Amino acid sequence: VVQPHSDRTDPYGDDIEAVLITQDQIQTRIRELADSAAARYADIEDDLVLIGVLKGAVMFMTDFARALPIPSQMEFMAVSSYGSATSSSGVVRILKDLDRDIADRDVLIVEDIIDSGLTLSWLMRNLATRSPRSLQVCTLLRKPEAVRSPVDVADVGFDIPNEFVVGYGLDYAERYRDLPYIGRLHASVYSD
Ligand code: XMP
Ligand code: MG
Repeated sequence: VVQPHSDRTDPYGDDIEAVLITQDQIQTRIRELADSAAARYADIEDDLVLIGVLKGAVMFMTDFARALPIPSQMEFMAVSSYGSATSSSGVVRILKDLDRDIADRDVLIVEDIIDSGLTLSWLMRNLATRSPRSLQVCTLLRKPEAVRSPVDVADVGFDIPNEFVVGYGLDYAERYRDLPYIGRLHASVYSD
């Protein structure tokens, strides 16, 4: 466990108890994930379509797209999952749909984190009905629960323990998305 914070002042003061994955570790792993994906899509004809789910996947999406050695196009969806703030039910409503048709396109869902996998498996089924040429998933983080999910994930950045994490797109009450690393909050943050 690396303690926060290196060269810059932490905007959230003492809220972060520990850094679990550093900025360097994230960026290094993203280059590996991008190379792995590019190898799978070496012979596609159109540009790869990346689909990110707002808002958590935004940081990963932008860094991943820039690390990819092949051209990609960015699409975003916003969904709301019925359930509590920290777990999902698998019942999903689309708040913002894709702007374009993905029929016959190679599509890679770029996910921030897979926990139960319920949201993702719903999304896979929904996107599959639009007849993409291929449909795969790359996730930065995966929790232990996800192992029981039926979704087949092409690449995983980091397997993490079953604890709530923030940073690099992931929030608690909309805060901490802007941190460049993945960390754990002090318990006092939840009780305040
Ligand atoms: P499922 O269970 O459907 O849920 O795979 C995935 C979604 O749950 C949220 N999630 C988290 N958000 N820190 C977060 O900020 C976490 O540790 C965490 N675990 C799950 C997230 O919205 C993800 O897309
Ligand atoms: Mg959230």
